[in-house]
This record gives sequence, C-alpha cells and structure tokens, in this order.
Amino acid sequence: MSLIEQLNWRYATKKMNGNSIPDEKLNAILEAIQLSPSSSGIQPYKVFVISDRDLLKKIHPIASEQSQILDCSHLLVFASWDKYERDAIAETFQYTLKERNLPSDTMDAYLDRLWGAYSPLPQDWHATHSAKQAYIALGIAMVAAAEQKVDATPMEGFDNAALDALLNLPEQGLKSAALLPLGFRDAENDWLAPMKKVRRPKEELFVTL
Ligand SMILES: Cc1cc2nc3c(=O)[nH]c(=O)nc-3n(C[C@H](O)[C@H](O)[C@H](O)COP(=O)(O)O)c2cc1C
Repeated sequence: MSLIEQLNWRYATKKMNGNSIPDEKLNAILEAIQLSPSSSGIQPYKVFVISDRDLLKKIHPIASEQSQILDCSHLLVFASWDKYERDAIAETFQYTLKERNLPSDTMDAYLDRLWGAYSPLPQDWHATHSAKQAYIALGIAMVAAAEQKVDATPMEGFDNAALDALLNLPEQGLKSAALLPLGFRDAENDWLAPMKKVRRPKEELFVTL
C-alpha cells in the first residue's frame, strides 16, 4: 500500500477486538516514535507502553470509559516534560556529542542561546512546548501503526490530572499529553468502520500563494 492508501485505511478505531499485536509490529511503531524529530533534538517526553491488564482497568474510567483502553493490545501514554531545565537539555546535547565523537563543548554556545530564550518563559510555555514535541511523535506513531496494519486511536478524552496521579508522573517531572491505544479493529461492531473518511476540501485547507 502507498502512504496515501495507508492513511485512508487508518481511522480512529472506536472498537478493538482484544487481539495482541505481534512484537515486531509493536517494535516497528516504537522505533518510529524513537526516530521522531523534536525541537533542538531534545525529545522532552517519555512514552509509557502499557499492556498490564490491571493497570488498563484502572485507566479505563479515567479515559471516559472508552472501550479501546480495555480492548487494545498496548496503550501508549505520551507524557511530556512539565518544564525545561538547563541541566536536562545539556545532558541531551552531551549524549548527542558523545554518540558523534565530537568535543563536549561543541554545543555550549547553542545551549547558552537556547537557555537564554527558554529560561525567562513561564512554566506553562515550557509544558506546552514539550507537549507539542510529544504530539509530533504521536503523529508519527499513527502513521507507523497504519504502515504495520495496526489500528490506533489518538485520545485526548481523558482526565489528565487523574492519569498523572495514577502513573506518578509529577514525581518524574512529566505530564500526560495524549493516549494511543494500539490493537486491531472489530470491524463488525465498530460504527465508524464503514463510514467514509471526511476531510476539508483541498481548496479550503491549502492556501496557495
Ligand atoms: C489529538 C487527538 C485527540 C483525539 N481524541 C479522541 C478521543 O479521545 N476519543 C476518540 O474516540 N477519538 C479521538 N480522536 C480522533 C479524532 O476524532 C479523529 O482522528 C478525527 O475525527 C479524524 O478521523 P480519523 O482519525 O478516523 O480519520 C482524537 C484525535 C486526535 C488527533
């Protein structure tokens, strides 16, 4: 299938059938997330990969009782940094420099400039900026899932504060951004499965200058 065919195949699955995803498909999706680009390459988020059924049962009421939480194979929780810290950014840069065998001071001037821009900004800005980076990974995860013929439902319909408390995210300097249950569609019982995919017409979406 071409990329466009894969994007037409995928949809925000409302009913999954409870089947497990083979490891190689899950790993391909996780690798795509790992390869996602982010501002300054910081990747200011973690992705929790949850298949523990007891934990999923606890998340179900927090996520508006959406059935995919129980019927998915794995639930991905995208959790982004609640703020940037100079040391955390420096650590990322040092890791990159070590992997590239470059001198450890190569990015010092860039770090000074970046921190000069980030540090005066309010924590809300930091949290929003990190969450935006996590959403890029969310988008890439959806495309990777479609490529693997795995169904996925992006979700914002959950109680962020309750999920953060359940997963002890504040202690880790993290906030939940979005959920992505992965699994397989139950096409016969999913009302959305036979529906036409509808998007804004190109003339309305694109502004050609
Ligand atoms: C960030 C985001 C949050 C969403 N939250 C939910 C959700 O909580 N539950 C749900 O069933 N669908 C959710 N959706 C699915 C959208 O409604 C769906 O992607 C959109 O209508 C386009 O349809 P399609 O993905 O089926 O092509 C969400 C989608 C995105 C991108």
